[in-house]
Amino acid sequence: ASAATATAVANGFVSGEGSKQPFVIGVSGGTASGKTTVCDMIIQQLHDHRVVLVNQDSFYRGLTEEESDRVQDYNFDHPDAFDTDQLLECMGQLKSGQSVNIPIYDFKNHRRCSESFRKVNASDVIILEGILVFHDQRVRDLMDMKIFVDTDADIRLARRIRRDTVERGRDVISVLEQYGRFVKPAFDDFVLPSKKYADVIIPRGGDNHVAIDLIVQHIRTKLGQHDLCKIYPNVYVVHTTFQI
Ligand code: ADP
Ligand code: C5P
Repeated sequence: ASAATATAVANGFVSGEGSKQPFVIGVSGGTASGKTTVCDMIIQQLHDHRVVLVNQDSFYRGLTEEESDRVQDYNFDHPDAFDTDQLLECMGQLKSGQSVNIPIYDFKNHRRCSESFRKVNASDVIILEGILVFHDQRVRDLMDMKIFVDTDADIRLARRIRRDTVERGRDVISVLEQYGRFVKPAFDDFVLPSKKYADVIIPRGGDNHVAIDLIVQHIRTKLGQHDLCKIYPNVYVVHTTFQI
């Protein structure tokens, strides 16, 4: 049978029209669970594809003068701390194949670097990573696959203390105070309840090579279907089987 007679139905991000939308993956999980590490491992394995990472952290709102003066009282773990409309705008542009300038966030000074941006180009795969990327339905609706990185709270706290003191200019006491007052309650109220939206839950984060290999295999399958639709734009895919 010719390509034109191949049977067809849209499957996931491969649209019935064979249109060229990137595959969008959301990666969520508590602070220091290993989200970035897992994303880096997926990106490394997909070295033969164009993959970009977008961090929800880049969309932290700037603080008012009053908030800056009392930064120890500011809740960076509440959904309102993020400019989600701007995140949606950037993701919309990337999904439609345009490049975007993404803000760069400075954790030491709790503000965006006003002059520099990170230019992110159109790509085959967009990974959106952050503690609350499953919280807002509009953001979830952008995703073709949702991954939750599940790491024990004691391990996450230990990593967070090390990271925030070494990389983010904090002292141990302030990390522990922030954790008890904001980070843990927001994890219980917002992050953990959003785990139910995940398609895949990865225990132990970056240590779980089997889970990461399986996820990469799945992405490759989806990208393969995408490539076929680019070659044969009038061919539709039924489930995952192809008949040519
Ligand atoms: P997240 O993006 O969820 O905040 P990261 O991937 O940035 O988490 O990891 C947080 C910290 O923990 C980093 O300093 C990182 O080097 C460390 N880390 C992440 N995964 C592991 C691991 N499997 N073993 C040891 N340290 C890890
Ligand atoms: O990389 P990670 O997912 O841990 O980043 C999110 C964490 O960053 C949140 O738990 C929040 O408490 C912290 N944060 C901070 N100071 C800021 C912005 C975010 O401690 N200025």
